[in-house]
Amino acid sequence: MADTEIKKGLAGVVVDHTAISKVNAETNSLLYRGYPVQDLAEKCSFEEVAYLLWYGELPDPWQLAALKVQERSRRTLDPAVRAAIESLPTSAHPMDVCRTAASVLGARHGLAEDSSPQANITKAIDLWAAMPAVVAYDQRRRRGLDIVEPRDDLGYSANFLWMTFGEDPVDEVVEAFNVSMILYAEHSFNASTFTARVVTSTLSDLHSAVTAAIGALKGPLHGGANEAVMHTFDEIGIRSDESMDEAAARAKAWMEEALAHKKKIMGFGHRVYKNGDSRVPTMKAALDKMISHYGRPELLGLYNGLESAMDEAKRIKPNLDYPAGPTYHLMGFDTPTFTPIFVASRITGWTAHIMEQPASNSLIRPLSAYDGHEQRSV
Ligand code: COA
Repeated sequence: MADTEIKKGLAGVVVDHTAISKVNAETNSLLYRGYPVQDLAEKCSFEEVAYLLWYGELPDPWQLAALKVQERSRRTLDPAVRAAIESLPTSAHPMDVCRTAASVLGARHGLAEDSSPQANITKAIDLWAAMPAVVAYDQRRRRGLDIVEPRDDLGYSANFLWMTFGEDPVDEVVEAFNVSMILYAEHSFNASTFTARVVTSTLSDLHSAVTAAIGALKGPLHGGANEAVMHTFDEIGIRSDESMDEAAARAKAWMEEALAHKKKIMGFGHRVYKNGDSRVPTMKAALDKMISHYGRPELLGLYNGLESAMDEAKRIKPNLDYPAGPTYHLMGFDTPTFTPIFVASRITGWTAHIMEQPASNSLIRPLSAYDGHEQRSV
């Protein structure tokens, strides 16, 4: 096998077809079922986009109403999931809490061993509907607060904020949150989606595939980067009394020092996009609105300082996690809760792939080039 060409990280390898989304690095574009993601973020609710990813078309008013009825009926935290969360230390990472909750919900689902298309769409909607309660309750219990019950007069994004903070959500904040949920929903064969497809290819069940995908998303090279961005901001120091320019200058100095030490800066770079992430301009616009809504220009200073220093030094552009991290921070989410929000969104994309994979399934099982000992005697 000495001459075998190894494609480390499967970089550049096309492993299957998909009709769910198209990432075009040359034109910096991302289509969900043919629609540009920035148009969906501007014109649609997250529920409409979830429907699009699952069914291939945007819903008509009746289809949307039916989806909302099912989603709203599944929002309450299952008592067994609550007990499982409470059995975990409050120091447990919220991604571990999400992963555990997905697993418990799977084992308790009435259709647990049924992987028919009808069972899978029911399980996908149920799991998507259940996740905000998990994320919200976990953040509240870490703050010593009681659970907030869901409200069925609110859409998915507004109810998510309601259950987390227990306050009537402000429209502008709901809008920015909705944009982030749409942008995070789907991104072709990224590491966690590929993980979900690998598990599905063994004919395992939907919840097992999502549980594995949550594990893959946790890593800082993938979804965990949105948290890591906030750690960078914290390390530089967020000073609310500082001007934008002062903050930018400190951020620039921090970046130069970090790059001189060959540090990887989270929230920058992408395996596929090499000239900028198609989702960043839309998320940056949402961040800008939140910065002015909360009156926090110094955060924009840090943001701009890091971005321009990275561009000057290495021409590496920010990815979606870069504007998403500070947006969630401004909304009041704890930093370790950022990636679980991504989970609630990406469940839509993962489960769309979990339902697409069986249509032309082949067990995903690559080869390896052995470079250990030659055969030897015991
Ligand atoms: N900070 C500093 N340097 C970076 C970088 C970053 N965030 N991303 C890439 N680079 C540099 C690498 O050091 C490497 O430089 P070199 O050729 O001098 O060694 C070059 O750019 C290529 O990087 P590489 O890691 O091989 O690219 P990749 O396609 O394998 O990696 C990521 C893509 C996403 C893993 C990588 O950009 C990264 O680690 N980013 C930070 C994590 C992150 O934000 N992840 C979320 C992705 S949506």
